[in-house]
Amino acid sequence: MSDVRNISAQSFKNRFKKNPAMQSYAPGRVNIIGEHTDYNGGFVLPCAIKYGTAVSACENGTDKMRIFAADIDGGDYDEFVISADIEKSRDKLWSNYLRGMTMLITKEYGARVKGLDVAISGDIPLGAGLSSSASLEVSFGCMVSNAFSLDIPLQKIALLGQAAEAYIGMKCGIMDQTISACGKRDHALCIDCRSLELTQVEVPSNLVIMVINSNVKHQLVGSEYNDRRESCEKAAAVMGVDLLRDATLEMLENARSKMDDESFRRARHVITEDKRVEDAVVAFRNGNLKELSRLMYASHCSMRDDFENSIPEIDALVEIISEALGDGKNAVRMTGGGFGGSVVAVVEPDDVEKVKAAVKAKYPAVSGREASIFETHACDGAGFVRL
Ligand code: GLA
Repeated sequence: MSDVRNISAQSFKNRFKKNPAMQSYAPGRVNIIGEHTDYNGGFVLPCAIKYGTAVSACENGTDKMRIFAADIDGGDYDEFVISADIEKSRDKLWSNYLRGMTMLITKEYGARVKGLDVAISGDIPLGAGLSSSASLEVSFGCMVSNAFSLDIPLQKIALLGQAAEAYIGMKCGIMDQTISACGKRDHALCIDCRSLELTQVEVPSNLVIMVINSNVKHQLVGSEYNDRRESCEKAAAVMGVDLLRDATLEMLENARSKMDDESFRRARHVITEDKRVEDAVVAFRNGNLKELSRLMYASHCSMRDDFENSIPEIDALVEIISEALGDGKNAVRMTGGGFGGSVVAVVEPDDVEKVKAAVKAKYPAVSGREASIFETHACDGAGFVRL
């Protein structure tokens, strides 16, 4: 058993004075390429990482979810009555993900959803842009689905997770929950975010995925993310398409005089990023690091200049790593929603130490903080076991 599985089971015993009967787990994610394309109906290429959220549980014979969050402030507790209309908690923000999931599942499955005692533990660094909230939603959704034999398909659990985010106030896309639910070991997942068709793409065995956390916390439940989404919708409307997925650069150029410069640049990022994801899938399949580098670095520049969701610390980190890897090997970019969080690099095993040394030597001077670095392989998505 991994640490978080152990911690969640042990916390369950300590808190509820009995053994858990079931356990679920769902990972966080790192996005290789395809940023802010998901809610525009486009493509993304994330993979599941080695960190995630474990949920241990047992039926409790009541009409309440009783939940112990082992990692919050040394242990926090919340309980709420199961219904199709659950209020958000004002002070226990972590609980709102579970309130949202419970409410949405109950809306559809009614009285089949019953009370659970639950203990949760996760090891995804919070605010690092690695989807700790999606992993919590998916892990808990997987628990409720299996505990009551609801047989909710994994992609449906992902959609419920996305709806739970909207309940909280974040109008996110479908990427994070889908990869957390449907990831496959040693594969990245190309998601067509309009048709929801999934294509598993093997990660070339000669490449290592590195995640470099800037330790500048990002906070997506805020206006920046939703603002970006609005600009994209505005640009799509001007071009007469439902989603930017259906727009081309030519259409965008033709409509330039009819939109503000900001919407133009936001849309240019999305349209060019979609193409980069399609090309990256081919580069991945061919193990073509040179092409992948071109695409990932271009993706970063497009976020920095057009989408404007990067920050100086992240730009500095990307440049430090890009320089250490050199031309043709600089497969590095910010990953996730932006405004802080992490950088992803896809590197040859021999270059791992080079990246670590460069970040250690140069990042503190430009940011006033240390970065945290880990390597991961692509991992499996959500799972459930009876104990
Ligand atoms: C966050 C959202 C995703 C996606 C990314 C940006 O992680 O949850 O849906 O939009 O930002 O690519």
